Amino acid sequence: MTEKVKFKWNGKEIEADKGSNLLKAALDNGIEVAHYCYHAGLSVAGVCRMCMVEQDGVPRPFPACNASCGEGIVVRNDTPKIKSSIEATLSFHLLNHPLDCPVCDQAGECGLQDYYMKHGQYDSQMVDKKVHKDKVQDIGRNVMLDAERCILCSRCTRFTEEVTKTHELGILNRGDHAEITVNEKLKNNYAQNLVDICPVGALTSKDFRFKQRVWFLEEVQTTCIGCETGCSVKVSENKNGAFRVKPSYDHEVNGHWMCDDGRNIYKHVSGALRLFGAQENLNGLFVPVDEFKTHQLAKGKTLKFILSTGLTNQEYEKFFEKIKGKSAQVALYVLPNQGEDFDGLLTRGDKNPNLRGARKAFEDAGYDSSQNALDKLLSSVSSNDAIFVVVPEIIYNEDHFNTLISKVEKAGLKIALTHGETLSTLRAFDFLLPIPTFVEKNGDIINFQNKKRALRSGISYGETSKDVSYYAGWVNL
Ligand code: SF4
Ligand code: SF4
Ligand code: FES
Repeated sequence: MTEKVKFKWNGKEIEADKGSNLLKAALDNGIEVAHYCYHAGLSVAGVCRMCMVEQDGVPRPFPACNASCGEGIVVRNDTPKIKSSIEATLSFHLLNHPLDCPVCDQAGECGLQDYYMKHGQYDSQMVDKKVHKDKVQDIGRNVMLDAERCILCSRCTRFTEEVTKTHELGILNRGDHAEITVNEKLKNNYAQNLVDICPVGALTSKDFRFKQRVWFLEEVQTTCIGCETGCSVKVSENKNGAFRVKPSYDHEVNGHWMCDDGRNIYKHVSGALRLFGAQENLNGLFVPVDEFKTHQLAKGKTLKFILSTGLTNQEYEKFFEKIKGKSAQVALYVLPNQGEDFDGLLTRGDKNPNLRGARKAFEDAGYDSSQNALDKLLSSVSSNDAIFVVVPEIIYNEDHFNTLISKVEKAGLKIALTHGETLSTLRAFDFLLPIPTFVEKNGDIINFQNKKRALRSGISYGETSKDVSYYAGWVNL
């Protein structure tokens, strides 16, 4: 077990691991410390000089990010000396900064803006002409660089060196002409983490910029359904829609990061193609219909369900509870692997968010979740069947899904249970019936580590009261 030490910071007693990072200990204990270059997921650079502290018995102030916790030390960052040190450093960072907060996408979550407001550095003290640098540079993978907003904290260069080890970014030149240099366009699948870690508006997301002001957004803490890793994420949304996904720190699964593929999982949640109620296919065009019509047409037919691997454990349980003792055939559609099994960081080739939960629920209910059972169900499809296919929320391989759809063609009634009209293949169905998306329901899924991961609901954008178990209630109608 790691040895603990006790020490004082601004008079508050803190307990931390002996030798652990002093700045981190303060931040973990809710103490406000100005900092730009320190990031808990990266090595220490100690370049921004914002986290200065004084310690009893030490003659000069020093950066807390480059010091460790020791028994009995007495540290302060609320002294006049430290306050004036922060103000001086801040004016230095602001010398050439454009202060274009009104048009900056980082406004509202910018370290520089927060501190200059707090320390009263409203007016530029620069009497000379500011050094100008390139403002709108597309540096690849959805990331834009505004070089004159950069404060050279080096978080981004350390990220590409230490985390992705792809080395696309560096710092070139000296003094006020130093700037981020792009050795080659960003090519790694984690590039948008750079936007999260940039403490100012120098790196922004092409996907998110200028869409919403962050103070109009709420964050829903949930789990990414992009693959079996199950990273902790926050979905930013408001009544107008979902706008972005960011990682949420989780030391057991994803640490500080998430992959760029996972950043896209919000796109089907809101928008024009979202399904609000039952729709009928009239010669290739979906038009609203009373779901009662589907209900009536299903009467007298053999009901068959093909479930996806994206439901919560609770949804599977409720579904099997509803069909218990009744005659319905059920099988599981498993998404095929994409790319390599594991990229060495987070992304896994298995894109089924809850395959483990699905298999367990099938087994507990006495159903077979194997490919054989799915093949058997598909080979028995006839005109006397009403078949319900739960459409996976994220489909990386449409061809694979199309093959499934081509095998249900013979069914007398084909119903897609889906969040929206997002796939061209849905035209093969007679009816679309709505189900909630991952960010509109509460429940658990099980990731590759066999860990429960929580899905949590935020704002509803479609019909969310009717989940798969609601339609299972139609069995033996
Ligand atoms: S671009 Fe952002 S993260 Fe990179 S050095 Fe500049 S301020 Fe830091
Ligand atoms: S690694 Fe998988 S679960 Fe994590 S963010 Fe990427 S797609 Fe989502
Ligand atoms: S956070 Fe300590 S020097 Fe930058």
